Amino acid sequence: MSVIPRSFYKHTKTLYYLRKFYSQNDFAKFKNVLNTAKQVVVLTGAGISAESGVPTFREPEGLWRKLEASILYNPVTFREDPGLVWEYYHYIRELVLKAQPNAGHIAVAQYERRHAAKKLVTVLTQNVDGLHARAGTRNFIELHGNMFKTRCTKCNEVLVNTDSPICPALAGTGSPTSDKLVSDIKEKDLPHCQKPDCGGLLRPHIIWFGEVLETSVVEKADIVMSECNVCLVVGTSSIVYPAAAFPTVMAAGGSIIAEFNIEPSPASPKFDFYFQGPSATTLPQALSD
Ligand code: APR
Repeated sequence: MSVIPRSFYKHTKTLYYLRKFYSQNDFAKFKNVLNTAKQVVVLTGAGISAESGVPTFREPEGLWRKLEASILYNPVTFREDPGLVWEYYHYIRELVLKAQPNAGHIAVAQYERRHAAKKLVTVLTQNVDGLHARAGTRNFIELHGNMFKTRCTKCNEVLVNTDSPICPALAGTGSPTSDKLVSDIKEKDLPHCQKPDCGGLLRPHIIWFGEVLETSVVEKADIVMSECNVCLVVGTSSIVYPAAAFPTVMAAGGSIIAEFNIEPSPASPKFDFYFQGPSATTLPQALSD
C-alpha cells in the first residue's frame, strides 16, 4: 500500500499550505462551495458504517478477540492460520449481511442521483462492507476490495459470494468474545475453488497489510482525484496509506477538503472544513439542497 498517484506530482503549487480559512460545522459555507463543484469525491472509512453497527478498526470495540488490525488483516496470519482469519470474516460477513446502510450512506447516494446531470460524484471507499452500493451509490471505487468477494489463492479467480455461512464448517464460529487465538477448523473444510482443475483455498478478496492496491484501482482513483473540486473525507483515521495521502494529493491539486468525523484527526487543521459528529447526522445536513 505505497503507490503515490501521478496526480501528486502534477501539482507543484503550494495551495495546500496557503489555506485561507478553516471552518467548523459551517454547513451554509460548505454548501456554497459544493454548489459550484463539478466533480466531487467522497473518501470514506470505517466511521461511515459505525452507525450501521459495523465495528471500526482502531477503536476499542473494533478489536476482534483482542487482535489488532495489523495482525488480523495480514497475509502472514492467513498463511499460518487460515481458519482463524476465516472465522473472523465469517463473523463480520454475517454481521454486515444483517446490517443496513445508514443515513450517511443514503445521503451520499441520493446526492449522486440528484446531481447526476451536472456533477460527477465518486465514492472512494476503504470499506469492504459493500454498504455504499446497497445504499444506491452507483459510482464507487472499493480501494481495499470487498468482503463478499473471494479470490482463489491458486488460480486467482475472483467471485462474488454472499453465502451464509460461506461453508458449513464456519457455521456458529467466529464469536468476537472467545479467547481462542488458534482455530481448530481444518484447512480442507474452509472455502475452496470450485473449478475441477483447481480446488485452491479461497481467501477474502481484500487488500491486507503489506499488499498493494490493484493497479487498475489506483489508476481510476488517480483520475478522479486529479479532477476533483471538492472532497469529503468521512469517518477515517487517515493513517493507512495510500488512502491517507489522498486528501493531501487532492488539496495540492486545488480541491477543497471537508472532514466529517466524531473527533478531530491529526490532519483536521490542514483541511478547509471540519464537521464534528456522527456522519449519519452531519452528511445529510451537508448534502441536502
Ligand atoms: N461518524 C464519523 N466518524 C466516525 C464515526 C461516526 N459515527 N465513528 C467513528 N468515526 C471515526 C473515528 O473517529 C476514526 O477516525 O472513524 C474513524 C475510524 O478509523 P479506523 O478504525 O482507523 O478506520 P479506517 O480509517 O477506515 O481504517 C483504514 O485500515 O485496517 C485497515 O484496511 C483497513 O480500510 C481499513 C483501513
